[in-house]
Amino acid sequence: MAGNTRRNARTRPKPSIDDDPINNDKKSNLNHKKERTRFRSSSRIQFYVGFLAIFAFAVSTYFIYSSFMNSIDYGSQKPRVITPFPAPKLMDLPQFQGEHKESLYWGTYRPHVYLGVRARTSLSLIAGLMWLGVKDGQYVMRHVCQDSDNLGTYGWTHHNGRDYGRQLITDHGLKLETNFLKLRGKDSGYGGDWAVRMDVQSKKSGPEEDIYGTGHFFFYVADEGGHAISLSRDVLDIHEDSLLASGSRRDVGGWQLHLESADNLEIHYSGFKTPHIHNLSDLVQVNLAHQIRRSGRLQLPDNLGPLGHSPNILVFQISAKLPFKADFAFVSGTEIKSSWLEERVSRLTGENLSKQLMEKKNEFEDKFQRCFNLNDKVDSEASVVGKAAIANLLGGIGYFYGQSKISVPKNFDIKGDDYLLYWPAELYTAVPSRSFFPRGFLWDEGFHQLLIWRWDVHICLDIIGHWLDLLNIDGWIPREQILGAEALSKVPEEFVLQHPTNGNPPTLFLVLHDLISGIKMGKFSPAESSEISSFLEHASIRLDAWFKWFNTSQLGKDPDSYFWHGRDNITIRELNPKTLSSGLDDYPRASHPNEDERHLDLRCWMLLAADCLHTIVKLTKNHDGLGKEYDFIVKRLSNFESLNQMHYDEAFGAYFDFGNHTEKVRLRSQLKMNGNYANQEMVREVLEEPKLRFVPHVGYVSLFPFMGKLIPPGSWILGKQLDLISNSSTLWTNYGIRSLSKTSSLYMKRNTEHDPPYWRGPIWMNMNYMILSALHHYSEADGPYKMRARTIYEELRSNLIRNIMQNYYKTGYLWEQYDQKTGKGKGARPFTGWTSLVLLIMSESYSSGWGISNF
Ligand SMILES: *[C@@H]1O[C@H](CO)[C@@H](O)[C@H](O)[C@H]1NC(C)=O
Ligand SMILES: *[C@@H]1O[C@H](CO)[C@@H](O)[C@H](O)[C@H]1NC(C)=O
Ligand SMILES: *[C@@H]1O[C@H](CO)[C@@H](O)[C@H](O)[C@H]1NC(C)=O
Ligand SMILES: *[C@@H]1O[C@H](CO)[C@@H](O)[C@H](O)[C@H]1NC(C)=O
Ligand SMILES: *[C@@H]1O[C@H](CO)[C@@H](O)[C@H](O)[C@H]1NC(C)=O
Ligand SMILES: *[C@@H]1O[C@H](CO)[C@@H](O)[C@H](O)[C@H]1NC(C)=O
Repeated sequence: MAGNTRRNARTRPKPSIDDDPINNDKKSNLNHKKERTRFRSSSRIQFYVGFLAIFAFAVSTYFIYSSFMNSIDYGSQKPRVITPFPAPKLMDLPQFQGEHKESLYWGTYRPHVYLGVRARTSLSLIAGLMWLGVKDGQYVMRHVCQDSDNLGTYGWTHHNGRDYGRQLITDHGLKLETNFLKLRGKDSGYGGDWAVRMDVQSKKSGPEEDIYGTGHFFFYVADEGGHAISLSRDVLDIHEDSLLASGSRRDVGGWQLHLESADNLEIHYSGFKTPHIHNLSDLVQVNLAHQIRRSGRLQLPDNLGPLGHSPNILVFQISAKLPFKADFAFVSGTEIKSSWLEERVSRLTGENLSKQLMEKKNEFEDKFQRCFNLNDKVDSEASVVGKAAIANLLGGIGYFYGQSKISVPKNFDIKGDDYLLYWPAELYTAVPSRSFFPRGFLWDEGFHQLLIWRWDVHICLDIIGHWLDLLNIDGWIPREQILGAEALSKVPEEFVLQHPTNGNPPTLFLVLHDLISGIKMGKFSPAESSEISSFLEHASIRLDAWFKWFNTSQLGKDPDSYFWHGRDNITIRELNPKTLSSGLDDYPRASHPNEDERHLDLRCWMLLAADCLHTIVKLTKNHDGLGKEYDFIVKRLSNFESLNQMHYDEAFGAYFDFGNHTEKVRLRSQLKMNGNYANQEMVREVLEEPKLRFVPHVGYVSLFPFMGKLIPPGSWILGKQLDLISNSSTLWTNYGIRSLSKTSSLYMKRNTEHDPPYWRGPIWMNMNYMILSALHHYSEADGPYKMRARTIYEELRSNLIRNIMQNYYKTGYLWEQYDQKTGKGKGARPFTGWTSLVLLIMSESYSSGWGISNF
């Protein structure tokens, strides 16, 4: 997948500067061998100049920063699409205030950096860690999670989503362990105190050892609100006094940052004043390069930036011989005189910290055991992978704040801009991948929450609440949330706009289903149950609007039919025009998009949503007509005969989409004149007139009625589905179920010359989890296929677990997808979003989705 430009539902990240040979030249490549000797200066002058220019720019832009948000004036005609849904916000519910809110204030909510801490507020004080790694004999700054850093592994082995996490990072010859711990001390400010421990070792073997004889780490604090941060004193010797920095904020009061270590650390610092915190690593690198050029020393200059500007960022460089340990303690509420400061700092450092980290680790293990109960199901090797799955999903939870950019509706004319800004909004959410997709994705989130509710239902409701508060007055939610400069810096400009005509699978209903059935089965405490019920009661008006948005905007021509709107019906470049909104991107659909289309997956999502709403309406006794409406639509959409009539191809023995389609298409190279230049271009050729028919591609979409458990256990159609799933000429592999059958005409075909196959063969964990859920269901339902379903279930489950485990131990990561021929992890890594479902597969905890009407 390296470096291609294809457009996916999850848009590709920007190439990092390190990947870009042109930019790379300009940047401060710090040759590690030149440390403490003079730098050859001729080609380096430009850093210096660039550095000054950046400073001037940063200072001058700082003051217009605050007026940046929401700056477009729409006058009286504010477009509907950027108008919030007119109902009380879910996040204002009492259950999300008080103790709950404070307990989640600080966290590792910056998943896109290797280690970052922030609070759940728009302009937070943030902290983070960088270090110098080595690539091709040159120093490079590690900070933002980047594939090109090529780390052996990184990720949380333990994380409880609240106040504790332990992460292991292997950077070639360097082994780094980072721990996070949060504590509510006596007299601490809002949200409590926290500590970060870094434990650095060198891998003893290999030629790289001497490179890492000395480690250079950079710990920073930065105030997004621009408040000044004070340095404790000019010369930092932590054996005299552990205080590094201090400041004051409205949210937490006075605060201090301390550093304690028993090792011999050399400490230097640098201050900056800039709002551009998202590219702080560049700033530090430029600064270091300048310093090397000037003094020949690889160390920050011990100054606070331009005179007269008190810095809002302080970066501390910690250099020491390996191995060493350092504890950073953050304490708040320090303006109170008798605030037990010393005691609080000593609890967050040294032996005291070690002891608490050990306790928290044990707590994590106990809770893991209680929630997932893997003991008699998998071995301890698998269990390690299961722990990494949940820890990384929880440790990957982020907090984002900003405004989505929305494409301008056709009939709307605003001067100057080609986009609208959504209202400034916060989002607390898990993310699919810390390196590639470190932001919120609507369709992934439902799968993430299948794990998270089992771990901490309060976190789960908080996340769903945030998402539902993003609903606009039309009942639409933007599917990819690119909020704030840090998130934006990872996304190429052309992929930023969100289109208000396009939907995305409403997977959150899967979770709501689970929560409701959890209540009915007594899985929650009485207090939790009543919180969930109250949440659902208040959410129902939003869920109803969300449903109605689909039920009007994605409606098909025939009664009870739906299709994903927004497919490109004029392109001649794509072999099969993509359906990004479905989440399945290039999964083949009708070759010629038009209004006659019927999409099987969307119909099933609609049933899931209607069924869920129906139950919520009954549960919350909020009848007044709504109940009847949903009862009616559930009956229609779950009608087996009507489903078969509209989507079942008897001749083929499979469920399909319907539309204007021909199989006879191909990409052909064509010569195109472009001014004076001739270009070769791939263009689609259609060799046969398309006609209205079933779209004969067997794959994940064909299995939706099966995944939805809509097929009666006694039906021969169930037998046919099991045939397709278990046949290695179609969907079966020893690593999981393929996304598209080997017999499909588009199996592993490129969609354009730049678009390699994505959902056209490889194995994806979210769909395999749904398939397993259904197999499990049918292996327990009486009928002629019970035993067969059981056999397939057992085999598929063990294939999935084995393959993901093997990849994890071999590569250090969970992956976005797995190759259907070799089982090898592919695409983004780490991908600890829905691939984490492997843990639920290990523990045989399946989603009740689509099955709930039976209650
Ligand atoms: C940081 O980002 C800002 C805004 O995107 C840019 O103007 C500035 O040049 C960048 N600084 C560095 C050092 O790359
Ligand atoms: C642990 O913390 C207590 C205060 O809570 C302090 O008296 C003690 O010295 C600390 N122990 C160590 C080893 O730092
Ligand atoms: C969904 O749309 C159909 C067709 O327009 C309509 O008959 C039905 O009442 C709608 N259901 C709900 C719950 O909005
Ligand atoms: C493509 O779709 C748009 C919107 O549905 C429609 O107005 C247009 O006529 C269609 N064009 C073709 C060539 O089918
Ligand atoms: C199917 O697509 C072809 C080619 O765009 C078009 O000519 C034909 O009218 C379409 N058929 C229907 C039923 O829409
Ligand atoms: C498996 O699928 C292939 C291709 O559709 C088919 O020819 C074959 O008969 C199937 N095998 C079984 C055992 O159903």
